[in-house]
Amino acid sequence: MQGLEKKIIFVGGKGGVGKSTSAVAIAWKAAGEGKNTLLISTDPAHNLGDIFGKSIGGSITRVSDYLSALEIDPAAETEMYIQGVKENIKSVIQSSRMDEVNRHLTTAKSSPGAEEAALFDKLVSIILEESDAYDKVIFDTAPTGHTIRLLSLPELMGVWIEGMLKKRQETNENYTQLLNDGDPVEDPIYDVLKQRQERFSKVREIMLDGDTTGFAFVINPERLPIAETQKAIELLDQYHLHVKTLIINKVLPEVTEGDFLLQRKAHEQQYLDMIREVFVEQEKIYIPLFPHDITDREHLETFSQYY
Ligand SMILES: Nc1ncnc2c1ncn2[C@@H]1O[C@H](COP(=O)(O)OP(=O)(O)OP(=O)(O)O)[C@@H](O)[C@H]1O
Ligand SMILES: [Mg+2]
Repeated sequence: MQGLEKKIIFVGGKGGVGKSTSAVAIAWKAAGEGKNTLLISTDPAHNLGDIFGKSIGGSITRVSDYLSALEIDPAAETEMYIQGVKENIKSVIQSSRMDEVNRHLTTAKSSPGAEEAALFDKLVSIILEESDAYDKVIFDTAPTGHTIRLLSLPELMGVWIEGMLKKRQETNENYTQLLNDGDPVEDPIYDVLKQRQERFSKVREIMLDGDTTGFAFVINPERLPIAETQKAIELLDQYHLHVKTLIINKVLPEVTEGDFLLQRKAHEQQYLDMIREVFVEQEKIYIPLFPHDITDREHLETFSQYY
């Protein structure tokens, strides 16, 4: 499958469609082919440990010969992120203001977007610092809305930081003239911002490189996921992130008898037709509905053969 052969894969889609299971399957298959693979889950509800019979958690853990996994807990990540900001800020803020700043940062932890920012930071560091050691890196992302925000963040953050840098530079120039007889002032905040900007633009480059990075959406043959996924794909297109692969999961097997199932299968067919019409550009991978959840290695073995 062309799209899933890229080195870095993001798996997105609406809640409950099978993103985490697909991400595991793609990783499992790649590892089975001898590719050194890293699977990153940001879904606290999905327990990779159950499938692999080994607890994984927040540091990279080897689960089989070629497969390592990492479970990122967004809440813990946010906590660490804010802690990091506090540390960073300590050196540039007067100690008498520190209490106030800490209070402000503690509030920021529960503000909208904080988890996304923290997850994004983690994503950036995985791509920049870890991915070189692997042949394949797979990100299991949270449901659609979040995915979109996460994936568009390099662009948004880039613009935001650019504005901050410009402002900072203007202020510094004014100070320079006032205080230093024209000698430039040292500004640690400017340096931190500049560093972040450089990291973001590196990640952006990698994410936009269609030879390296692929985006796959998982969908079920139902009305709502189709509409939502269509919107999501259009939106990502605007950020020049092109979803090339569609995984149609939980397709009913062929049925030959039973009124209920025959009727259900016919009903599903209209959605399968719709998917073909709406998603013309994407390669499509069809995965049947299994009579059971995918909860152990044996299930996974069967499930991943479809990828
Ligand atoms: N083809 C399938 N047949 C049977 N069960 C499946 C199939 N695909 C996924 N499942 C099961 O459906 C449930 C939801 O799957 P999964 O956790 O992968 O979805 P998700 O999209 O990651 O959900 P969330 O949005 O909550 O992160 C799981 O219990 C999984 O085992
Ligand atoms: Mg999930």
